[in-house]
Amino acid sequence: MKKFISILTFHVLFLFFSLINTSFSQEANPCLMCHANLKEAKYIHNPITMGCEACHKSMPGKNHPEKGSIILVQTMPGLCYNCHDETKLKGKTIHPPVSKGMCTGCHNPHSSNNEKLLKLTNRELCFSCHDKNKFEKKYTHKVINVIGCSTCHNPHASNNPSLLPNPINDLCTTCHKAQSSGIHIVALPGGKIHPIKDVKDISTLKIIKVPDPVNPKRQIEMPDPKVPGKDLSCVSCHNPHSSDYSKLFPVQRICLKCHKY
Ligand code: HEC
Ligand code: HEC
Ligand code: HEC
Ligand code: HEC
Ligand code: HEC
Ligand code: HEC
Ligand code: HEC
Ligand code: HEC
Ligand code: HEC
Repeated sequence: MKKFISILTFHVLFLFFSLINTSFSQEANPCLMCHANLKEAKYIHNPITMGCEACHKSMPGKNHPEKGSIILVQTMPGLCYNCHDETKLKGKTIHPPVSKGMCTGCHNPHSSNNEKLLKLTNRELCFSCHDKNKFEKKYTHKVINVIGCSTCHNPHASNNPSLLPNPINDLCTTCHKAQSSGIHIVALPGGKIHPIKDVKDISTLKIIKVPDPVNPKRQIEMPDPKVPGKDLSCVSCHNPHSSDYSKLFPVQRICLKCHKY
């Protein structure tokens, strides 16, 4: 019986201390006395639960909240890469705010009501730095309004230009299969098809005049070898975002962008 009581006392005491302990550890972080708002959101960044020291330290000789009294333990983005794999944010194209270490341009380091600690969601996040007007001209590509920017852009980095997940034509034809051959562009005699890739977009070449090798007194026109130009692709004839012209054409009379008739 005595043994039973002592076991019982032990259990009661254990329960008592563990209760104190949990209620204590919630208050244990003295910083939260004044900064409780940093933990009041739906999603809390995991290291916050370990304390603030994972990212902040006091400067000796200064009293908090004096300016500069508490600083980051390391500069950005190195701070984030202490725990997150940097290689996942690398690629041939890196989004400038990522390469410049402005992670907090998009993420709240403490907590957020949005998933992935994002400060804003979908297009609104992108429009916090990119001019909204460029994407909301008279005709807007339906994907932008319906799904958003992430359909066609990675937020951090990519091995394709413009942070695209795939090369341009592959990306567009995932949804526009009927246009993949280019047969829609113009009916050419003999069933020939207008090129949609593997040639240069002639409007992006710089034409220079050079002496004709056969008759040096004459000048001939040729593309400047120093200006490589862009490859012809779907975006040579369609703005991927929005346009003042139908079919998302970048200019009113699309053929005249490249051909002189
Ligand atoms: C007695 C209240 C109080 C406590 C406790 C407190 N802070 Fe502060 N803290 C403030 C005030 C007030 C400011 C200035 C206003 C603001 O930015 O909210 C501030 C500002 C800061 C800043 C911005 C510093 C800057 O120079 O811009 C950081 C970072 C910070 N606190 C971290 C901490 C950490 C970490 C702890 C725990 C070690 C802590 N605070 C404890 C009141 C407090
Ligand atoms: C994962 C790293 C990380 C942790 C953990 C962390 N912070 Fe921060 N904190 C930052 C960064 C980064 C900034 C700078 C934000 C910016 O540049 O916009 C910052 C800024 C602040 C600021 C300045 C005002 C603000 O809201 O941006 C305060 C106050 C602050 N932290 C308090 C705290 C407190 C209190 C804790 C612990 C409960 C804490 N931080 C834990 C990374 C962290
Ligand atoms: C002390 C370690 C540590 C540091 C420093 C740190 N993180 Fe984290 N972070 C974590 C852990 C742990 C998780 C949760 C597990 C995971 O998703 O990898 C996480 C998750 C995240 C998530 C995903 C949240 C979700 O809901 O899926 C984002 C975004 C993030 N961190 C951004 C940052 C940024 C930006 C910085 C720099 C300001 C940073 N982290 C610094 C440890 C850290
Ligand atoms: C232009 C905005 C932007 C910037 C700048 C940015 N991120 Fe992100 N990040 C995002 C978005 C959007 C997601 C969500 C992606 C998703 O859901 O697939 C994300 C997701 C994450 C995740 C979670 C990954 C996962 O698979 O769950 C981590 C970790 C992260 N970012 C870290 C960082 C770090 C570190 C930096 C700075 C070097 C940074 N981010 C800069 C927009 C950004
Ligand atoms: C914190 C500011 C910031 C946010 C938020 C931001 N960007 Fe950017 N982005 C920039 C800057 C700066 C550049 C380089 C200058 C430019 O092209 O406007 C850039 C460039 C780009 C480029 C061109 C990259 C290249 O190498 O050609 C794309 C694509 C892009 N951003 C997409 C997005 C998308 C999609 C979002 C939303 C998920 C977003 N951005 C959110 C700052 C930001
Ligand atoms: C249908 C796919 C698609 C969607 C959706 C999309 N983009 Fe793009 N974006 C592209 C392509 C393709 C390019 C490359 C254009 C080129 O090379 O001429 C590009 C280029 C860019 C650039 C760099 C060149 C420029 O025009 O300034 C930025 C910045 C950009 N996009 C931001 C955004 C933002 C912000 C959103 C959401 C509002 C968005 N994009 C939605 C496909 C898309
Ligand atoms: C995620 C699917 C998706 C992707 C990827 C996509 N689009 Fe679209 N696109 C649509 C939808 C949906 C419409 C609207 C169709 C409708 O209204 O019938 C559309 C419409 C168009 C139109 C017709 C606009 C008009 O006024 O008739 C053009 C041109 C176009 N897209 C070009 C592109 C180009 C170029 C790309 C690649 C940069 C691309 N699309 C990538 C879904 C997509
Ligand atoms: C050389 C210019 C040119 C190129 C390159 C081009 N298109 Fe078009 N596109 C057009 C013209 C012209 C029309 C209008 C056809 C019509 O009215 O019958 C059009 C119309 C469209 C439409 C609207 C549907 C329709 O038939 O009216 C979509 C979607 C489209 N193109 C997608 C694409 C995709 C995806 C690519 C890349 C694989 C692409 N286009 C490449 C010139 C081009
Ligand atoms: C972005 C530039 C561009 C636009 C816009 C464009 N083309 Fe072309 N077009 C080319 C290129 C490049 C070639 C291939 C030239 C070569 O092979 O030397 C070509 C070839 C042609 C040919 C000759 C085909 C052949 O194989 O002999 C015709 C006809 C033609 N285009 C008509 C049009 C018409 C009609 C439009 C408007 C619907 C148009 N193009 C819009 C760039 C363009």
